[in-house]
Amino acid sequence: MEQKPDEGQVAIDYLLSNSRQRWAVQAAQIELDARMLESSESVEFIRKVYHKLVIGELEGKASPILRIFTRISEYVDSALSQRSNYNQRLALTTTADRLNANLQDLTRSSNEYAPRFYPIAQKWHEIITNYVEELAKQVELRQEIDSPYILAVPLTQKQEIFSGRDDIGSRIEQLILDRRRPPLLLYGQRRMGKTSLLYNLGKLLPNSIIPMFVDLQGAPSSANNYTGFLYNLARGMITSAKKEAVNLPPLTRETLKDDPFTCFDEWLDRVEEVLEQNTALLMLDEFEVLDSAITKGRFDEQDVLGMLRHLIQHRPRFKVMLAGSHTIEEYQRWASYLINVQVVHISYLEEESARRLIERPVKDFMLRYEPDTVERVLELTRCHPFLVQLLCSEIVAYKNEQDPSVRRLATLADVEAAVTEALGTGSFFFADIQNNQVNAMGLDILRFMAARGEGVIVNKNTILQEIPGVLESDFQKLLQRELIEKIENEEEGDGYRFQVELIRRWFAR
Ligand SMILES: Nc1ncnc2c1ncn2[C@@H]1O[C@H](COP(=O)(O)OP(=O)(O)OP(=O)(O)O)[C@@H](O)[C@H]1O
Ligand SMILES: [Mg+2]
Repeated sequence: MEQKPDEGQVAIDYLLSNSRQRWAVQAAQIELDARMLESSESVEFIRKVYHKLVIGELEGKASPILRIFTRISEYVDSALSQRSNYNQRLALTTTADRLNANLQDLTRSSNEYAPRFYPIAQKWHEIITNYVEELAKQVELRQEIDSPYILAVPLTQKQEIFSGRDDIGSRIEQLILDRRRPPLLLYGQRRMGKTSLLYNLGKLLPNSIIPMFVDLQGAPSSANNYTGFLYNLARGMITSAKKEAVNLPPLTRETLKDDPFTCFDEWLDRVEEVLEQNTALLMLDEFEVLDSAITKGRFDEQDVLGMLRHLIQHRPRFKVMLAGSHTIEEYQRWASYLINVQVVHISYLEEESARRLIERPVKDFMLRYEPDTVERVLELTRCHPFLVQLLCSEIVAYKNEQDPSVRRLATLADVEAAVTEALGTGSFFFADIQNNQVNAMGLDILRFMAARGEGVIVNKNTILQEIPGVLESDFQKLLQRELIEKIENEEEGDGYRFQVELIRRWFAR
């Protein structure tokens, strides 16, 4: 079988579906899987294993163990796709810790396959930890600056690099204590750090508030019926409560099936019992996605939003917070369900937090900045969290290409060079503004203003003269997207200016 794996697999599949000797065939398949896992020699091999293991069909005793390997393989794969050496190491170390926990479980397990798979898991652990050491050596050897910056994903709780937001944390706390129990809306532009804040809110709030994060962009809104929707909602709540060491009762699809809303409501009763004196903060990220599911007719407005309103009004243990980059005014149908909604605005970081992100993103950061250079990064990004990370990560990448003798000090020239790179690597961010956040007239205004140069206040009348057909509402939209700001001037008339220099650079290209 090992010599002709493909034919062997066909034979196994055949026997599995036809034979009465299912049991023996399964045992053979498990042994084959074990040998395949055992043959791992590198992280490159491990990262591909999850494509090869087909445990779904084998609901046998070995499947919980095989699932450990699938999961570790997936973690390794995602760790290795991190851009910087530093973040690869961070993710691999977490993976090794998880595997270590699995190893402990295996020693205590009564599963008959545990002894067969334990040494394999041990071998994997060794391969991963050795690789982490190797990565660390590479950095030493090449005297590279470790880049801790993270661009592609929201910041989870473990990341030291999450900065600031204490002010928003306190405001949310106050609103949660408000006796009128208003629903909250966390409103901020794209990539301003909404999801990162929601992930990290637990650290900023007192322990009596249990944050429960649900990403509506994911499974809930793509479900095709209420059972799926409510099941995924509950699953999100259960998973995040577990992170705060709160165990919520389980809820299965099976239970929900016959009368989903009633069953969900009964489940909430049981959740409230578990909460005791604590408060649950139900955070629904990307509420716009749910809105579009309603628009498409997949869910009924009254059913879903009515359920939400009922929860807000009649369950004092629960607070609801939506997050998105649109206001409730832009989503009219939500207004009547979210009475008295309080908006929490999330915008640029405070200067001090941005400065920390630049100069000391993590302990032992190797790069120093010449005087005025940090100021320049602040000017270019206006403390926009994503843009600070983008620019700084380009600065580090640029410095790493230079001779080690000058590598550890960033100059104004380095920053300028990094700007050009940042416009390229960050193009998805800038293109999203251009394609999805402004209309054709808005784009004309932005291009016209951008061409005037850095920091220039462009007179409103000049814009009106130069671009025919501009309406007051076109300015309003750009203001609402926080792309430009209004500068009042009684003598020369009002003018507008770009809020963020890096964004101006994109439109000036
Ligand atoms: N508090 C913070 N400290 C440091 N960096 C941050 C912070 N918040 C956000 N970032 C940076 O901004 C990026 C985008 O953050 P996040 O995904 O949380 O934004 P978002 O507002 O949820 O975006 P979207 O509108 O696309 O959902 C992160 O990957 C990270 O680089
Ligand atoms: Mg987000």
